[in-house]
Amino acid sequence: MTQLVDGAAKTAFRRRSDFLVFGSPAIEDAEIAEVVACLKGGWIGTGPKAAQFEREFAAYKGVSQAVAVSSCTAALHLSILAAGLMQGDEVITTPMTFCATVNAILHAGATPVLADVDPRTMNIDPQSVERKITKKTKALLPVHFAGRPCEMDELAAIARKHGLKIIEDCAHAIETEYCGRKAGTFGDFGCFSFYVTKNIITGEGGMVVAAGERESARIKVLALHGMSKDAWKRFGDEGYKHYEVVECGFKYNMMDLQAVIGLQQLKRIDAYWKRREQIWQQYDEAFAKLPIGLPAAPAADTQHAYHLYTILVDGARTGVSRDQFLTGMTARNIGVGVHYRSVPEHQYYQERFGWRPSDFPHAAKIGQQTISLPLSAKLTDADVQDVIAAVRDTLGL
Ligand SMILES: Cc1ncc(COP(=O)(O)O)c(C=O)c1O
Repeated sequence: MTQLVDGAAKTAFRRRSDFLVFGSPAIEDAEIAEVVACLKGGWIGTGPKAAQFEREFAAYKGVSQAVAVSSCTAALHLSILAAGLMQGDEVITTPMTFCATVNAILHAGATPVLADVDPRTMNIDPQSVERKITKKTKALLPVHFAGRPCEMDELAAIARKHGLKIIEDCAHAIETEYCGRKAGTFGDFGCFSFYVTKNIITGEGGMVVAAGERESARIKVLALHGMSKDAWKRFGDEGYKHYEVVECGFKYNMMDLQAVIGLQQLKRIDAYWKRREQIWQQYDEAFAKLPIGLPAAPAADTQHAYHLYTILVDGARTGVSRDQFLTGMTARNIGVGVHYRSVPEHQYYQERFGWRPSDFPHAAKIGQQTISLPLSAKLTDADVQDVIAAVRDTLGL
């Protein structure tokens, strides 16, 4: 068994030169042509293409406006500021997320508070949220983990009852829907990521969908140094326009060079989603009888975004630990990910907040057993078969 795990594979696997990079995005000729055109066009910074991407993303979400920014981390940071949160205000979020979620709360000067997850859905558990509410709680920051929507009816009821803002971390959840509504439109702010591994990409990039017009306008100003509205037009052919600095903002704008990629990717969002759904189903079928945990089936009246296919490997059950499994897959030239070791496992948060993994037992257990398998729309059928074979082989089956 150890021998198998350490890489002496039973069967011939992919060649090293053909290593399957985890999360490698599908990039097509149209994006490449648009990037070249943008580079040759004389303007690659924030401009008309970023504005067009905002309009088309807003149309996809069925909302009137969206603000393109440099990352989802920036989107979260600016949303928390625009929500009016102050020093000491508490924001309840999940321990089963990327550090960016918690860091954004800290960047905004607020205090993160963790509520444990539901062990089946891996999403924040509304009952745990209720238990964490104090007089200082001002916002909920749910993460639609892996693209599965959180229990938004319950979270919205809690928010209404306690007068809280909702900021949705939709980094995994561009296509996610819950009872006919699109993720990012439940609360006051929805924050999206176009990072390289995401469902559609711009390289680095993010978007905010804010319910309030005033908040949306403020985020636009804060994302570009706090310069007055449309300051990005100052170099345009309408003549130089002076701007005013109206707040101390940030350098969080999206470039046209990034937006042209996003515009092309957005056209294929449904096709990519369908491909990931197919791969998801192939994995479900292939792994149904293996001694590993599989993602919960999508709930009725929802649309899962199929961003991550996460399996759980419990060493006591398989004889192979999670970390041995990671090594074994890599040795078989299949790239894998970990989403995530739970937030309280990290030294910084332990030291600053005294968080312990054992205080969030469901998240801790997932964090110690989870592995994400490749799920990019770029995968060929042969890639998918290689992943399936490598999983079986690594488990010694
Ligand atoms: C759940 C979650 N939130 C936030 C982020 C931050 O996104 P970005 O890299 O666009 O800042 C990520 C990125 O991986 C994420 O997975």
